[in-house]
Parts: sequence; C-alpha cells; structure tokens
Amino acid sequence: MSGALPAAGSHFADDWLTLREAVDHRSRAHGLTFFAAEHLRRTAAGRHARVVDLGAGRGSNLRYLAPRLHRPVAWRLLDQDAELLAAAERAMPPDAGESCQLSAEIVDLAAPLAPVLRDADLVTASALIDLVSRGWIDTLAETCAHAGAAVLITLSVDGRIQFSDADVDDAVVRRALARDQARDKGFGLALGAAAPAVLINALARCGYAVATQPSDWQLGRDDAALARALIAGWHSAATSQQPDQAERMAAWAARRVEAVERGRARLCIGHVDVLGLPNPRRR
Ligand SMILES: C[S@@+](CC[C@H](N)C(=O)[O-])C[C@H]1O[C@@H](n2cnc3c(N)ncnc32)[C@H](O)[C@@H]1O
Repeated sequence: MSGALPAAGSHFADDWLTLREAVDHRSRAHGLTFFAAEHLRRTAAGRHARVVDLGAGRGSNLRYLAPRLHRPVAWRLLDQDAELLAAAERAMPPDAGESCQLSAEIVDLAAPLAPVLRDADLVTASALIDLVSRGWIDTLAETCAHAGAAVLITLSVDGRIQFSDADVDDAVVRRALARDQARDKGFGLALGAAAPAVLINALARCGYAVATQPSDWQLGRDDAALARALIAGWHSAATSQQPDQAERMAAWAARRVEAVERGRARLCIGHVDVLGLPNPRRR
C-alpha cells in the first residue's frame, strides 16, 4: 500500500518510507527488473538510459534498481514533496559518479504527463498507483507508448490482506479500508486495489507486451515495526470511514499488533509488479 493513506495534497512521512524500504526491496519481482535491464541494454546501447521515477519519494525505487540495471543511467526523480526529494539526493552514494546521473524535480503528477515523459526509455514508479484514477493510468499508458518508453510499475497493492489466523473483525476493517482507498488523493477518484488490473489493460490496449508478478509483503515477527505502523494506518483509515465503530476498530488493531509481535500470526499484503515493453512499430 502506498502508505499512510493521505488526503489530497498531504505528504508521506519520511519515517514510513524508510520503514518499508527493506521489505519493499526483498518483495519485488526481481525477474521483471532483469527484463527491464535487458530492454535498456538493447534500446539505449552506448549512452545513458533515461529513466523517470514517478512519485520517487526518498529514492527507494532508485536504490533498488540502480545496481540491477548494470549500466549508466540518467535518472529523473519526480515528486511533489521537496523534502523527500532532498532525502533521495542525500542518500545517493558519493561514488555513484558518471554512471548514475541524477536530477530531482518537484512536479505535480496530476498535471499533464507528456512534457516530463517525452524522452524516457523507462518510466517507473513504486507504491504509487493505488493513489491515481483510471483516467490518469490511461494517460500514462498512452503517453509512454507515444514516447516508446518501457514501463515498470511496482509494489502496487491488489487488495489481499491475509493474516495467517482469522479474527472476527478482519472483514469489517477490510471493507472500511477499501472505501477509504477510493478517496481522492489528488488525482480524482483513487483506484486503490483495482489499479494493477487497470494498468495491465491500459498497457495492453496501447500495444505493450505486459508481464506481471506478485511482490507480496510477507510480514512476521521480525517485521513487527512495519506491521505496527501499517495496522495503525488501517485502524485510522477504517475509523474515519466508520466513526461509530471506533472502539471495535481499536480493539481489532490491538489484537492484530499483539498477534504479529508475539509471532502468533503472519501477515501477507498482496502487491503486484507490472512490466510493459513497448511495441516498436507503434512509436
Ligand atoms: C507511497 S509514496 C512512494 C514513494 C517511493 N516511490 C517509494 O517507493 O518509497 C508515494 C509518493 O508519491 C508522491 N506523490 C503523491 N501525489 C503526488 C503528486 N500529485 N505529484 C507528485 N508526487 C506525488 C508522494 O509525495 C510520495 O513520495
């Protein structure tokens, strides 16, 4: 999930993005990264590949991809949050050198995308598209197809939230959460967990060869800090949807945190990675 369930225009906490980074990296569909790297090797030979990271935050996607693309890359990190972008720049290894050029740009992604994607070889994002609308995804696919860019959109929630044991109120919270995910986050009605399916269809309509793989978070006792933050976010989102059930939701959150912390329950949060490789004839 993209995270702290913000309202339109609000900001993601640096702490939350830091907390999730290791789990994000271990969960990703490494095979799709390999195919994206191969694509860049073929299509951007002899020059820096131009990679645009949408909603880059503090640079987690860059830190995952950079060592795996095995080639010089000119990165453009786009985000509306100047503080997160500054953290991304600070986190760049000082010895990255010429092989990793970086520009961080404050951009509102709800504005037209064509100017920022024009020259891209690869357009990527992580933990972003549950925030956006169907129209935004259609425009993304069309704009990327026009630019001839590959598309790698990762760590998108697909709605599965599974504890390894059952709690009587899991379903109540899940339903309230799904309603909350549809709130406008600055891009119109948010797709939430429907986003990956909408993206896959949009890319296919634009002639992309599309591959998907799960990138589920598997959380156990060792990930208790992340699980606690996640459950707290769900609790707050579900309560805002059903304020009359506040006590019930609070008791649910306390039970769920305790179960994970004590190792009695594991938690799987369904995520999907999607790779689209462009059809060169449609450029
Ligand atoms: C859940 S965070 C993911 C950050 C990063 N990709 C990661 O995986 O850690 C979503 C990011 O989207 C950015 N964002 C949300 N709405 C935006 C908008 N309208 N324009 C630009 N960035 C936006 C947020 O500032 C945040 O950095």
